[in-house]
Amino acid sequence: MADENDTPPTMEVNLEHIKHKIAVMSGKGGVGKSTVAANLAFTLAWKGYSVGLLDVDIHGPTIPKMLGVEKENLTFDSDNKMIPVKISEKIKLVSMAFLLEDEDSPVIWRGPIKMGVIRQFLEDVRWEELDYLIIDLPPGTGDEPLNIAQMLPDSYALIVSTPQDVALLSVRKSINFAKMLNMPIIGIIENMSGFACPHCGKRSDIFKTGGCEQAANEFKLPFLGKVPIDSKIVETGDDGMPFVLKYKELPSSKIFEEIVDKVENFVEKN
Ligand SMILES: Nc1ncnc2c1ncn2[C@@H]1O[C@H](COP(=O)(O)OP(=O)(O)OP(=O)(O)O)[C@@H](O)[C@H]1O
Ligand SMILES: [Mg+2]
Repeated sequence: MADENDTPPTMEVNLEHIKHKIAVMSGKGGVGKSTVAANLAFTLAWKGYSVGLLDVDIHGPTIPKMLGVEKENLTFDSDNKMIPVKISEKIKLVSMAFLLEDEDSPVIWRGPIKMGVIRQFLEDVRWEELDYLIIDLPPGTGDEPLNIAQMLPDSYALIVSTPQDVALLSVRKSINFAKMLNMPIIGIIENMSGFACPHCGKRSDIFKTGGCEQAANEFKLPFLGKVPIDSKIVETGDDGMPFVLKYKELPSSKIFEEIVDKVENFVEKN
């Protein structure tokens, strides 16, 4: 049994100043997890919270590029701990991309080495007090996201999916994944949910819509909202500027605000 004088593992010390940790996950790649993680972080910051963004997607750490952050910004303190990059008054970022030599080369480390690097990466960051830490997990429900999620005790899960059937199958996998790790599930976001034509304004449900809400109901989980396909989300992602910052007044930004209201409510009660 653990003695109360035992020194807690570094990771817990490292994360203990963080009030709420939220792991953004998806059973499948390319559904908009990083986009959602970045825009939620900025919406939380806009509401006055101090926010950390942790990009642990070793094979595709895209958050710095989405937010226009350079690798050169990285600094270390006297204990050799990484100091998160301040990307706005209220937001700090640490990304796996900062550790990779060359963003165009694939990571080919084998499992145990890779996990060692990730563990060290999580331990060696000097996080100060934060209201929220938003964690962009690698896609899927395999060993890698599993091992990383296990390294982040007391995290909530937030599931992102698109409305297609195949993506919905992956929602079920994500739900089981979170349950297996005893992570409370804040809810499900349906991303790329319909397309509002920028010319005529007419909405088309290219990939159908409503499937995630149905899955949420089925599993008795909160449904957090539908983010439509929006060409400005692609544009801002490519330009290194958060969508909700540049287009605060557009309906898709309001949807992120509503999602954040639900997130706040959930973490206050759980
Ligand atoms: N609602 C949206 N409307 C339009 N484009 C979007 C939307 N959400 C995401 N995208 C675009 O889709 C692409 C994939 O998004 P993103 O990188 O966030 O997905 P991901 O789930 O993090 O992918 P990966 O599994 O590779 O990490 C990006 O080009 C992004 O700009
Ligand atoms: Mg991603």
